[in-house]
Amino acid sequence: MKDFLWWHDGVIYQIYPRSFMDTNGDGIGDLEGIISKLDYLQDLGVDAIWLSPVYPSPDVDFGYDVADYRAIDPKFGSMRDFDKLLVQAHKRNIHIIMDLVLNHTSDQHPWFQESKKSRDNKYRDYYIWKDPKPNGAPPNNWLSIFGGSGWEFDQGTGQYYFHHFFKEQPDLNWRNPEVRKEMLDVFRFWLEKGVDGFRLDVFSAYFKDAEFRDDPKKWVGLRKYDRLIHEYDADRPEMIPLLKEIRVLLNGYPERYVVGETFMATFEKAALYCGDDLLHAAFSFEDFINGHWQAAKFRKAIKTWEKTLEDKCWPNYVLNNHDVKRSATRYRDDENDERSKVAAAMLLTLRGTPFMYYGEEIGMREGKFKKSEILDPVGIFYWPFYKGRDGCRTPMQWNASENAGFSSAAPWLPVNPDYVKRNVEEQMREEGSLFNFYKKLLKLRKDHPALMRGDLEMATVVPGNSLIYFRCLPEEQAMIALNFSSEPKKIDLVKNGAANCEVALSSKLKPNRNYDEQYVLDGNEAAIFILKSSAVA
Ligand code: NOJ
Repeated sequence: MKDFLWWHDGVIYQIYPRSFMDTNGDGIGDLEGIISKLDYLQDLGVDAIWLSPVYPSPDVDFGYDVADYRAIDPKFGSMRDFDKLLVQAHKRNIHIIMDLVLNHTSDQHPWFQESKKSRDNKYRDYYIWKDPKPNGAPPNNWLSIFGGSGWEFDQGTGQYYFHHFFKEQPDLNWRNPEVRKEMLDVFRFWLEKGVDGFRLDVFSAYFKDAEFRDDPKKWVGLRKYDRLIHEYDADRPEMIPLLKEIRVLLNGYPERYVVGETFMATFEKAALYCGDDLLHAAFSFEDFINGHWQAAKFRKAIKTWEKTLEDKCWPNYVLNNHDVKRSATRYRDDENDERSKVAAAMLLTLRGTPFMYYGEEIGMREGKFKKSEILDPVGIFYWPFYKGRDGCRTPMQWNASENAGFSSAAPWLPVNPDYVKRNVEEQMREEGSLFNFYKKLLKLRKDHPALMRGDLEMATVVPGNSLIYFRCLPEEQAMIALNFSSEPKKIDLVKNGAANCEVALSSKLKPNRNYDEQYVLDGNEAAIFILKSSAVA
């Protein structure tokens, strides 16, 4: 496409650097490792990489506790390696998105180290410090989503500081103009380096209530945290002017992109933060990441997302990330990957930017761990009710050699033992593999503007537990048919205004040929049709 816009028409691939490819034999992935796989990513057909944090970090939250926003952690390499990654990625038309974790720092960040020295330290007000209640209790009822109170008492200075996440991740005080300035400079630093965009970690929690009012309580919710209505510890109105400022800054550079991770987001909430003068996009994980394997659930989620965003901003879709159980496991896919193919076809043909997560293209399953093996502190805290996030962070499965070709040393997290069969090399060889299906889908998108830009219309005559929709441009239309059941389904092409269409891609390797009146979708089949002339009414 002539005016191809990478973040709008392209596909973004998230890399969790610790687990992607290790080149220096320490069992932890590194930037050189990513560079060595750029040809792989180009061949797969992705347009951008979102890099989970690579900044120096004590790794209490594996990189999401940043100790320096302008440097690279030596375990990942050097700034030189980063510059090389940027040049090499750009050479292949692959864009780079940095993960900015600006709601909190690590407690090892020099600002916090200073801040806790004394009440009158220059950096004291960089963080949220409050006096105890007269009885010594925390200043209010705000909690940490990772468990326990959100307030940690500091003996040295006799005050509490607030942390939404671990106590080693103190929240910044975004009301302090110095903090705001420092952080906008962090954006500038990476923009000047030439990065193409940012993913903002829990941006909607930057501001807290200025009066520190208690969050109201509710009766339902599994964790204590869920039994609070988070009215005062997140989603404050001050976020909107800040986003406007960030957008003006980004607009000073060509084709930059910012996507926000909305904290506890419904579709409606995420939509509030996007627009021409706000974020380009915000994630809502409702249904796609938390939902069940049912056509009706996906249909509802898609319709809601479309309706909520209207023309205000471009949607995005995500099946996996570094915080949730892998989709192949969630959807209880068989070893034949049929459901993963249906999910892939949906992800890559909806109206919006698809985000993939490393290993999704080979259907990596959730790793299983015993209690003693768990590294994610969230899993340690909530065990056995919740086992944490290690399962979706196991090393990439490149081939059947030792450690799955990820590292010459024992990996930081054990490789999923299924790597012997489930790996990139194997799936590249097998024509009907999930990997090859992803590759074909990515190519089909690129070849058909309707799949990138077309409007989305739901079909009206749809068999049970299947999803049919159209992507329409005046000059081209496509029809996508997804069977979520294991029973065959007849699609009435005439009634759907799609008579005489051609199958461009089927997950069941059916030949590309024309169908006049009816198409029988096999159980768990995904098929994409290119329609002749203006077939859709
Ligand atoms: C959201 C990130 O995705 C998650 O991995 C992290 O633990 C929290 N934010 C805190 O930064």
